[in-house]
Amino acid sequence: MEEIKTISTIKKYEHEDELPSDDRKLLTLAREAVSSSYAPYSHFHVGCALELNNGVIIKGSNQENIAYPSGLCAERVAVFSAGANYPEQPIKAMAITVKAENYVVQEPIMSCGACLQSMSEYELKFKQPMRIILQGETGAVFIAEGLRTFLPFMFWVDELQRQPKS
Ligand code: THU
Repeated sequence: MEEIKTISTIKKYEHEDELPSDDRKLLTLAREAVSSSYAPYSHFHVGCALELNNGVIIKGSNQENIAYPSGLCAERVAVFSAGANYPEQPIKAMAITVKAENYVVQEPIMSCGACLQSMSEYELKFKQPMRIILQGETGAVFIAEGLRTFLPFMFWVDELQRQPKS
């Protein structure tokens, strides 16, 4: 028997003004993206801004649907938009923030597993880890280098990448 351990390191900044200026800017853009969230069912708004290697910024927000599972999280709206419009551009960094209608979110909120899996795909596609910046509506900011911090064991099957062309 062997124990396999994973170690994750997250930088925690107590105040937003301690952040490097690029991270602060991306977080401001993520906050702007919150305003385009469509969340009439959960009343929980999520905004995301990502920066591509070429400097282009893409925003995403959660888009809900009355057929609940048809909706999509902010992170996937943003990464799929990047993949569709800039298929050759790696994602350098992503900032994610939230706003609830009925209370103030004072802690960073982690992206869901499906979003972490989807985001991880683009790291593998481009062999480049992305910087993740998380903040609630206010309060501390978490920064992580690469999705492995949050999802050390993503679903991955080498064979699916090497399908023979018939
Ligand atoms: N949501 C996101 O946008 N990102 C996540 O990573 C998790 C949850 C959205 C989905 C839904 O519209 C709302 O937050 C409440 O679950």
